[in-house]
Amino acid sequence: MENKLIEPVQLPLPNPVFGTPHQNGITDPHWPVSLPNDERFVALKEHLARQRQEGRIDDVPESVSVSDLKDRYRSEYAGRVAGQKFMTLMRADVQSHSRDELINILKLVTEFATDQMIKLPSQSHIKIFEQIPDSYRVTVTVGFGASLFIDKTGFDRFNLRHLQPKFLKQMPSFPGDADNFDPGERASDLLFLIATDHPYINVAVLRYFAEYFNKIFSERFLAGGPARQVLKFHDVEEGFTRKDKREFLRFDDGIDNIHMGQDDLHRLVYVAECDNEPAWCTGGTYMVYRKIRENMRLWEVLKDTVQQGMIGREKDTGLPLSRDKAGADDMTPVYPDPKDPRDGPLNSHVRKVQPRRPDPDLFGFDDLERRFLRRPYPFFEGLDENGNSKNGLQFIAFMKNIQQQFEHVTNMWQMNENFPVEGTGIDALYHHQILSTVDGGYYFCPPGLKDKDDFFGSEMFRI
Ligand code: HEM
Repeated sequence: MENKLIEPVQLPLPNPVFGTPHQNGITDPHWPVSLPNDERFVALKEHLARQRQEGRIDDVPESVSVSDLKDRYRSEYAGRVAGQKFMTLMRADVQSHSRDELINILKLVTEFATDQMIKLPSQSHIKIFEQIPDSYRVTVTVGFGASLFIDKTGFDRFNLRHLQPKFLKQMPSFPGDADNFDPGERASDLLFLIATDHPYINVAVLRYFAEYFNKIFSERFLAGGPARQVLKFHDVEEGFTRKDKREFLRFDDGIDNIHMGQDDLHRLVYVAECDNEPAWCTGGTYMVYRKIRENMRLWEVLKDTVQQGMIGREKDTGLPLSRDKAGADDMTPVYPDPKDPRDGPLNSHVRKVQPRRPDPDLFGFDDLERRFLRRPYPFFEGLDENGNSKNGLQFIAFMKNIQQQFEHVTNMWQMNENFPVEGTGIDALYHHQILSTVDGGYYFCPPGLKDKDDFFGSEMFRI
């Protein structure tokens, strides 16, 4: 068979956006909200025509026009997070009670993180025909745990108690947590979320922190004294994504996520001045981390129709289950009446976590005002002693108010047996023990850096 070279024509992946009031790796990299230039779309149309002739694609009609492609860009890409392909999460505890030392630790963390983010891909020892990407799109996002403010014994270790973000606390237990998951044991002072486009780069960034941080800290700040481990790194977690965004249950996770319009970001993701938080929190965001195991043996014996009923969406198209469909080619979702079981089970995941009721609730909030930005990564970590796959989802979500968003969604809707109507039961995925949460924590990601001398959390120390 002739070995044809297919010339790839793609929209270039967006890079992290540096220099915003927010940290990288939360709502960026994201596809530009306004359209990339016309030439790209013309080239893409020609490329798709060639691919169709070669029988490589079948879901783009022959008649597709540049304006159709632009429409698809607007609905499927514009303003959406273009998350990196691999994520690594690492926790760390501060082994010091000195406020000055904490400042130096945060300064060095900032230096390490920024060095890694701006570093260009290495070319050394790579053979000339190997393609080296322009960037691995590295982001290192730093989160502060509640124990950085008040430790487990109630001690205000760095005199920061009065500056603790309002909703930052140890993650409570929720129904559906595995028996051996104790959130108190899994809490940490700091969390690093490393995201890049190559697993090797994740490893390199992680090892750089784990192996050099304490060494360099000791050389720089403890000159003359004995070397110390001021940060104890532990508990590394990993995740990846697939090109089709499907996770292990084979459904597309992330269809209905927050878009990058400035309005949504300020209303739902980033803390604003008017939020009644300590001033230094403005521009920061809370991160909820839940590691959720999936029982594939139970899941994979279920028929597609049963699985769809548990998720609340069609497996193939991702459209919500509903009797009222839009036109044959129209992919506009038609959401069912939140209380009507004729549109699929009321305890399906999607209906439990986002009911979309037409009127504001008792607190005056529309259901859609409780959304948060999800940045999920599937994980796989081998087989258990019975040969069962150990896999699931690293559920990572960013929001400006844990109580109004994640906790309300989980306690009042998802795990509330009587929501939306008496006797509905909890989220079907948890009810049937397809899911169980095995790890997690709450963190606050401080705002982005103001200039090259700034460091994460610096505003906490300005008196
Ligand atoms: C292994 C765990 C989970 C899996 C496999 C999963 C899967 C999915 C899927 C397939 C969708 C539909 C596609 C979409 O709208 O993005 C979805 C939507 C959603 N999920 Fe999950 N999910 C998981 C855990 C959670 C958790 C713990 C929460 C938080 C309470 C959550 C909140 C949401 C929300 C808010 C939506 C959007 C619903 C909408 O607006 O229609 N998910 N999830």
